[in-house]
Amino acid sequence: MTVKNIGILCSGGDSPGMNCAIRAVVRTAISRGIQVTGIKRGYAGLLRGEFMQMNLSSVGNIIQRGGTILQTSRSPEFQKAEFRKKAVDILRAQHVDALIVIGGDGSFNGAMALWKEHQFPVVGIPGTIDNDISNTEYTIGFNTAVQTAIEAVDRIRDTAHSHARTFLVEVMGRNSSAIALKVGVCTGAENILLPHDKVNHQKLVDDINRGIARGKESSIIVVAEGPVAGRSYDIQHVLKDMYHLDAHVAILGHIQRGGSPVADDRFIASQMGNMAVEALLAGNVPSVTVVQKGKVLMTDLANCTTKADHNYIEYSGLAETLSI
Ligand code: F6P
Repeated sequence: MTVKNIGILCSGGDSPGMNCAIRAVVRTAISRGIQVTGIKRGYAGLLRGEFMQMNLSSVGNIIQRGGTILQTSRSPEFQKAEFRKKAVDILRAQHVDALIVIGGDGSFNGAMALWKEHQFPVVGIPGTIDNDISNTEYTIGFNTAVQTAIEAVDRIRDTAHSHARTFLVEVMGRNSSAIALKVGVCTGAENILLPHDKVNHQKLVDDINRGIARGKESSIIVVAEGPVAGRSYDIQHVLKDMYHLDAHVAILGHIQRGGSPVADDRFIASQMGNMAVEALLAGNVPSVTVVQKGKVLMTDLANCTTKADHNYIEYSGLAETLSI
């Protein structure tokens, strides 16, 4: 396999640090004499032929920027084989002979299919704030999203304490517990509700009242958004109607996805981008960059095509113990 021109795209939800990975891919490839073709708006843009030639300065001054300069999308079309065939035809016509995909498990499934159905060389880089991909301890953007949410909860705690209030603070994570758990532990939350938890309202009320009885002036309940964002309002209504307990709702939403990446996201993304290019040049495909035992390394892409909500589950008891 000779690689002369690498295509690169971002797919799924953006995450802070994606730009660091793009920069590392472009700079590593060019330093090795390889061309890089940027593909805009993910698989949807690929199907529309939205290509841009990347050079050293197209990735200048982006290391500190959130979002992705290539933009991204969720592409339901790409789940169909006919569209994947079209995508490979477009890539080959453009003389792109390998693809780096930055995204989550869904994006990696698309990449895996390109390899299985058309032997198109692919390498994945895990980028999602959810940190929920199998066989990697880390996905680019997680720490930045957590830091953003922590800062927001700290502010909410100030006002909650001043007024002796209870707040339900909803963080992202449709299927992932990672943000809720880490934010909950780091902000001293009184309770953490995970995405698929059946809410035990009685327990919430008992915990809040126990805290008040021992002199607490505020309660923070961190709620992972779960399948339908806004579930905090349902909880708020039950607490009010059935238990006469007033709680305020703060939904942090997409501010968690934006912003300048923290050091870990920059550092890991830089290593991953570099390693992804080296893997392609070594013919190590289909593969993916992962973090295992704290080190960035390569593994088979098939290991990372499913969701895994394991990375922070072990800490679910910690917040509860520390918030009594
Ligand atoms: O990228 C992951 C994620 O931020 C989830 O935590 C969240 O549930 C979802 O994306 C929101 O997606 P969208 O921006 O498409 O509404």
